[in-house]
Amino acid sequence: MDQADELRKKVELLKEQTPSSRVIAVTSGKGGVGKTSVSVNLALQLQKQGKRVVILDADFGLANVEVMLGIRPKYNLADLIFHNKTIEEIITQGPLGIGFISGGSGVQDLVNLDKDRLKGLIAKLVKLDNMYDVVIIDTGAGISDSVVEFVLSSPEILLVITPEPTSITDAYSLLKAVNRKREFDRNGKSIKVITNRVESMREGREIYEKIRIVASKFLNIQLEYLGYVPMDKKIISAVIEQNPISLGDPGSEPAIQFKNIANRLLNRSDKEEKQQSGIAKVLLSFIKSKKNG
Ligand SMILES: Nc1ncnc2c1ncn2[C@@H]1O[C@H](COP(=O)(O)OP(=O)(O)O)[C@@H](O)[C@H]1O
Ligand SMILES: [Mg+2]
Repeated sequence: MDQADELRKKVELLKEQTPSSRVIAVTSGKGGVGKTSVSVNLALQLQKQGKRVVILDADFGLANVEVMLGIRPKYNLADLIFHNKTIEEIITQGPLGIGFISGGSGVQDLVNLDKDRLKGLIAKLVKLDNMYDVVIIDTGAGISDSVVEFVLSSPEILLVITPEPTSITDAYSLLKAVNRKREFDRNGKSIKVITNRVESMREGREIYEKIRIVASKFLNIQLEYLGYVPMDKKIISAVIEQNPISLGDPGSEPAIQFKNIANRLLNRSDKEEKQQSGIAKVLLSFIKSKKNG
């Protein structure tokens, strides 16, 4: 039994005593398709529905969740791991009481932790599992960096695509890269698609069908459709004004669609409910697949 297995057992034991959060990883094949916009707006919509939500920004380099929310975190995940900060200290409060954690360099550092640091981190993450119902991970894009490992580790994936042909082919490449991995557990995973920047409900459905068919035919991966977000200039101004559309203009078409998608997320099957594993377990599994990969 290796170190990660040992810790996994500990996490399992802790889980029996404490509830674990629902982890949702928001991802895409290519950048700029709306992952951060989706993460922020769904966080707000789920919080409006009475869930306690925290966003973990794992998109290194671009600190764009904080830009969209207009908040500045003081600390990040690396401070939690290396500088003795508590979980409360690294969470920044956002609008409506959603939490925000900046991954910073911490996500990359996760792989090289010694046993004691890893233990300390897991204990803190178990605490996070108690504090929130939903953890949304904004993973970044593509098949490089840590995106594939996040997709492998999280039981629930939201894949964002747009009508641009490269968005669809890159999303397919991501699924293909995931499918090649030995750890990929197609039965224990739910991959849901959101279409963004579409002209109509119909266009959203059409581009979803494109990826659904190839994923099913060539990769034997079954996708599920969550809904669409229309192309709307109001989303661009919301980003500039640092006031997400779900807050600033809740009656607008995009905000209504974000709400519909959030409601669909809340109506999940019993099987899926059982797959809910908590952030401690997901990050542990992430560390393990990074090490193997
Ligand atoms: N539905 C939409 N309609 C219009 N513009 C959008 C929409 N969704 C996103 N955008 C614009 O696209 C830009 C990139 O979105 P973002 O969420 O940062 O993408 P990603 O996180 O995937 O890189 C945003 O700054 C926003 O201006
Ligand atoms: Mg982003």
